[in-house]
Amino acid sequence: MQIITAIEDMQALSSRLLSEKKNIGLVPTMGALHEGHLGLVRRSKDENDFTVVSIFVNPSQFGPNEDFNEYPRDTEGDLDKLSPCKVDAVFIPGADEMYPEGFSTSINIGNIGTILCGASRPGHFNGVATVVAKLFNIVMPGRAYFGQKDFQQTVVIGKLVRELDFGVDIVVCPTVRGPDGLAMSSRNGYLSDEERKAAPILYKALKFGEELIVSNGIVNAVLIKEEMRKLIHTEPLAAADYVEIVTLGRLEGVEKIELPVAICIAVKIGKTRLIDNIVVEKKQVEDVR
Ligand SMILES: Nc1ncnc2c1ncn2[C@@H]1O[C@H](COP(=O)(O)OP(=O)(O)OP(=O)(O)O)[C@@H](O)[C@H]1O
Ligand SMILES: [Mg+2]
Repeated sequence: MQIITAIEDMQALSSRLLSEKKNIGLVPTMGALHEGHLGLVRRSKDENDFTVVSIFVNPSQFGPNEDFNEYPRDTEGDLDKLSPCKVDAVFIPGADEMYPEGFSTSINIGNIGTILCGASRPGHFNGVATVVAKLFNIVMPGRAYFGQKDFQQTVVIGKLVRELDFGVDIVVCPTVRGPDGLAMSSRNGYLSDEERKAAPILYKALKFGEELIVSNGIVNAVLIKEEMRKLIHTEPLAAADYVEIVTLGRLEGVEKIELPVAICIAVKIGKTRLIDNIVVEKKQVEDVR
């Protein structure tokens, strides 16, 4: 497993691989790796000749009052997890390598980046789009792998790739969950024991919303969102940031449920903000009837 820190070295390696007609798969991460990340890695290993995992805690996607400094960093532990997966290369640039003195370019993804998570995290998705664009130019993958857990991010990246003609296939992988339904997330490490016990309320609320649509046939989105919020707040440590039911392509809020929809939520458990979502498909209703 090659460990690469310089942009120039990564580009040289990728150029050589492309000249040998090798397919490159990229898995962008911020490290503190868990089974969710490893699911993306395995998929890339299956589908490409050469898999690159990038580890970069991207300062430009954190707001001034967010947890950039506290964000978990464990490069050695990460490499120990990647090496048995037979990852070909790990790209770990420093912040100065990615954003040298005087760096000022950024991608503005537009309105899609200001709704849902973007409303409470201004600038976040522009930071994500900018770093992903850089990673694509550095690693030159044919495919890049993202998790459904970050549903809005997958829509943002899809738009970035289409509108700026990156020619990278975006592969969205299912959310990996713990046995109690909690989506794996590096930020779960912030939770105290008590908060960890409270955190599965996110998935419970999503499944409840799904059930109201699929089994109870409720089509009034406002009602479903209210019922979900009530359920979330039965958990004393939980405070809903948003509960939204949106279209898959544009993330537009719906009033009347017409499937498919995505139910997207962000909930604070103590001080830790967690997100999760599920997609409800038309087929699920047909199967019940
Ligand atoms: N539980 C999961 N299942 C599938 N993919 C995941 C999961 N968690 C994260 N990913 C994906 O891994 C990639 C890297 O994400 P990242 O390194 O930010 O991890 P994270 O767990 O989302 O951390 P945090 O929640 O702190 O942002 C993203 O594409 C993300 O969607
Ligand atoms: Mg993340």
